[in-house]
Amino acid sequence: MNIIKAENYKEMSQLAAKYLIKQVNEKPNSVLGLATGSTPEGLYKEIIHHYTEGDVSFKEVATFNLDEYVGLSKDNDQSYYYYMHNLLFDHIDIKDEQANLPNGNTENLQEACKQYESSIQEAGGIDIQILGIGLNGHIGFNEPGTSFASQTHIVELDESTRKANARFFDSIDDVPAQAITMGIDSIMQSRQIILLVSGSQKAEALEKLVNGPITEKFPASILQKHANVTIIADHDAAAKLSV
Ligand code: PGA
Repeated sequence: MNIIKAENYKEMSQLAAKYLIKQVNEKPNSVLGLATGSTPEGLYKEIIHHYTEGDVSFKEVATFNLDEYVGLSKDNDQSYYYYMHNLLFDHIDIKDEQANLPNGNTENLQEACKQYESSIQEAGGIDIQILGIGLNGHIGFNEPGTSFASQTHIVELDESTRKANARFFDSIDDVPAQAITMGIDSIMQSRQIILLVSGSQKAEALEKLVNGPITEKFPASILQKHANVTIIADHDAAAKLSV
């Protein structure tokens, strides 16, 4: 694993943006895997900045987000569809039909999972996948105990994840209990992975990811087996790493 320590959140975001922009400039029809949550917000700001400056175009790019809540409509401001449009897609030249998220607001969730997985394959697979990490080691919404062989599937969210995400909702009762997420195997098939980690509260999870045993009890540990992972951690998140 390639570990880059950034001074702070801004530098972490700038470095991640550089990777993505280089990828898109070298391969204009790149397939990017994107993430939501607090961590990549700065990355998306940087991308918009560079797009506005004319450094990059997303006209031919396709994106696939890691996950989406079940039962929230697209215009619900807590849906990841809303987040991605509000924080990135509406500000760059990506084609709407090329910006993909799992459909968590449908009768047939199983079918939505299958379709999502095959759309990724049809697009040629993911060139770079952006990841965050949960305090419990989740990647996407793959909670501890998820099979390493999993593909896009429906998950019951951990109580700890619902608590962590309650900050975005009026109360924890409003946080959906289920989500659709790319599976661990779907994530591992990406040709390159960039994991962003920020803040002291993530330091322990990052240390476990890097040095801990590879176990389904801590999903992110599987990344030790991926051939092309770059971790960009800010100063506080990297505090427990010795390298
Ligand atoms: P965060 O979430 O970026 O909001 O901390 C990361 C995650 O849970 O994967």
